[in-house]
Amino acid sequence: MKINTLIAAAAIALTTSSAFAYEPGDMVVRAGLTNVAPDESSSNVFIGATDVGVGVNVDSNTQLGLNFAYFIDSNWAIELLAATPFDHDIGLNTVGALGSTKHLPPTLSANYHFMDANSAFQPYIGVGVNYTIFFDEDFTSANEAAGFADLSLDDSFGLSYQVGFDYMLNDKWLINASARFIDIDTEATFTNNGTPGKVDVDIDPYVYSLTIGYKF
Ligand code: NI
Repeated sequence: MKINTLIAAAAIALTTSSAFAYEPGDMVVRAGLTNVAPDESSSNVFIGATDVGVGVNVDSNTQLGLNFAYFIDSNWAIELLAATPFDHDIGLNTVGALGSTKHLPPTLSANYHFMDANSAFQPYIGVGVNYTIFFDEDFTSANEAAGFADLSLDDSFGLSYQVGFDYMLNDKWLINASARFIDIDTEATFTNNGTPGKVDVDIDPYVYSLTIGYKF
């Protein structure tokens, strides 16, 4: 009787402690808001050999963020960050609006989870690679009227670093928050009344996500 009681207690303890543990083959899908907040630095804009004397700035944007994680074991997960296209205004420093661009920043990361099976709070750190694709680059209509055209931003390939946590609501549902730094550098090229111009921009954003997740 006493042994049976002990076994029952041990079984309950095991069940309870494994409720929050990730296991090999687990998949987590997370969806919510992702904010891209550039911490940009820029060269001066050049038109031909002429230094315009000012650089550019990039505003922040929030989109629907999607996130898929696959657990190789209880600690390591491979994670893909996806989102609906981000849309950023580009400004010419102290002068005003320059134009805008959209981008998609798919990021593949390896995350290390500090697994504590008895805790609903599951923090992790990760490092990954980012490929940012820019598209729909446009000057404002006023700048187009002034002869600016053919705005194009080079795609960027760089490293991504993140910290985050899952907060397990039960053995299936969770809340996730994460913060990343992504190294995104690009060169913008354009023409001004036929003269080629360019500006180098390190966008280097902080990327914040707040999502709800489900473990399969
Ligand atoms: Ni950079």
